[in-house]
Parts: sequence; C-alpha cells; structure tokens
Amino acid sequence: MELETVQAIAFSSMSAGTIPPEFIRSEKEQPAITTFHGYIPQVPTIDLSDPDEEKLTRLIVEASSEWGMFQIVNHGIPSDVISNLQKVGKEFFELPQEEKELYAKPPDSKSIQGYGSKLQKEVEGKKAWVDHLFHNIWPPSAIDYQFWPKKPPTYRAANEEYAKWLQGVADKLFGRLSLGLGLGEGTLKESVGGDELLYLLKINYYPPCPRPDLALGVVAHTDMSAITILIPNEVQGLQVFRDDRWFDVKYISNALVIHVGDQLEILSNGKYKAVLHRTTVNKEKTRMSWPVFLEPPSDQVVGPLPQLVNEENPARYKTKKYSDYVYCKLNKIPQ
Ligand code: OGA
Ligand code: NI
Repeated sequence: MELETVQAIAFSSMSAGTIPPEFIRSEKEQPAITTFHGYIPQVPTIDLSDPDEEKLTRLIVEASSEWGMFQIVNHGIPSDVISNLQKVGKEFFELPQEEKELYAKPPDSKSIQGYGSKLQKEVEGKKAWVDHLFHNIWPPSAIDYQFWPKKPPTYRAANEEYAKWLQGVADKLFGRLSLGLGLGEGTLKESVGGDELLYLLKINYYPPCPRPDLALGVVAHTDMSAITILIPNEVQGLQVFRDDRWFDVKYISNALVIHVGDQLEILSNGKYKAVLHRTTVNKEKTRMSWPVFLEPPSDQVVGPLPQLVNEENPARYKTKKYSDYVYCKLNKIPQ
C-alpha cells in the first residue's frame, strides 16, 4: 500500500515553490488574512506548583471558563521525560516511508489508532498540511503495541515514562476543575470513566510548507476529549479563537498546553468552554506536537452533571454515550 502523506507532498512542493490546490484555503480561512497582529492577549500561564491551593483552583477555573485553554509550568514532569518523548517521535517520522507504513491505520479499522494523513473529510474537500500517528498510552488494557513504533528502540520506554508522569497532572487538573464546580475533588474524573479514562496520544507532524500563508495544519475545531494535554516543539503554530479573532499562542519551553474539550464543557453544563483552535505551518521548519486526549471509554454516558442542573439552570447539552458523540462529530451530524 502506498500511503499518500503530506510529508511526501511537501518534498515535491518544495522545489516547485507551490502547493497543490486542495491545500489552498478559502479567503475566510487563509492564515495570512485571518491572523490578528495587533495587541495579542495571551492565554493564561499557570504555575502548578503554587502552594496557595485556593488561588491555583481559581486560576484554573477562570482560564477554563474564559479561554478554554491555558499553559501550565512547574507541572512536575521532568524535562528529560518530555525531551525523550519528542526525540523518539521525531525519529519515527524521519524513518523511510515504508518503515512508517508498517503502522498505518488499517483502512477498515473502527479504531483511530495508527499512522496516517487524514482523519475526516473536510467541507469543500480541503486537506490539512499534517500527518499523524495515534495510539493509546494508558490504561494498560487499552494499549495495542501493534501501533507503537519499534524504531527507534527507545520509543516504547519513552512513551511509557511520559504516560506514567502525565497521570499526576491529569488527576490534579480534574480535581481542581471539580472543586471549581462546587463538587467533590473526584467527581469529574469519575464522570469520565475513573481508572478507565483513556489517554490517546496523537503525534502531529507538520512538514515545511512553501505557502504557509495559504495552508492550514489542523483546521479550526474543538477537541472531543474531556481535556487535552499538549506538548509542542519550538516551532510556533498553535492559534486560538477569541473575540472573533485568531491569535498565536506563545510557545513556552517545557510548558504543557491544556485544552478544555467538548466533554468537559458538557459535564460542566457550559461553565467550562471547549476552546476553538487551529494550527498554521512554517515555511522552513517542521512543526510537531504531542497532544494527549483524555477521553471517556466509548460506552461511558456523558451529560451535564445532575448536581449542576435545576429549574433555573436546565441542561444545555444532551446526555449520550461517548461513542455516539464521536460518531456525530466525525460525520458532522448535529449532536
Ligand atoms: C489537535 C490539535 C494542535 C497543535 O491535533 O487536535 O489541535 O498544536 N493540535 O498541533
Ligand atoms: Ni485540537
């Protein structure tokens, strides 16, 4: 099977200095036209090691309600754990194409796991300037090593190590966000599956693009997850939509970028906002990112928490199985 990848298209586009028409966005989407360059408000940066617990909770709650996105520093994950994760992911994408295709997402597979190029058909048939690899990293019962690269040989250890550390951060965030809703610290985590909560890693690989003014990496979207925890590389590219404008999110070395996803917005009955975001690409440099989507197991039923719903505050979202939510979202069927 010869997989069509953006990496291969990028290679042939470089000498031509142009990109195929299906990558050229409409004027409503082109980053050169739609990125705001005036005063840029920054998404909040939060120090997770702050000993003032009440303040920490307040900052996380404010950021999740007003932005749906924030960056955390002093999160406790050692920097070599992060740089190892980045190193092995980069080495995988630099392998020859045949080697990467060993992990290709099977065409008939229901699961999202594997190496590939496009996730969903976009309106107007446009294509995103990005390749990806998806695989679960936690819990152990959800891991299918078939989709974990065997090259480089340290790939597995580096990913397992990151998964181990990430759980502490995830638990802390769910705890604070629960307190912010006036609920017990364990409530949100339980509502997204407790120990069955799925950690789905995606590696995004955005090759250099001769026309970054016209193309997009991932197109505007909110994540389906409850929370997404993302590590970028040093190449700028993440943008957030706020006040009807697209803003660049500043890269901070060693920070984790937190996104509120759809499931958290639903559970909180709209108090926390899923963030609309997209990515741009770079003319000379390869951008990469490592989001981990914290998702409920597929038959988990998710809806506004009953404790938050009453006559004055009716449920603003439907209650449904997570797998049904995903099906509607991927097929662009109203929820
Ligand atoms: C995503 C995403 C952002 C990034 O893959 O869902 O939003 O910075 N990625 O690559
Ligand atoms: Ni996203």
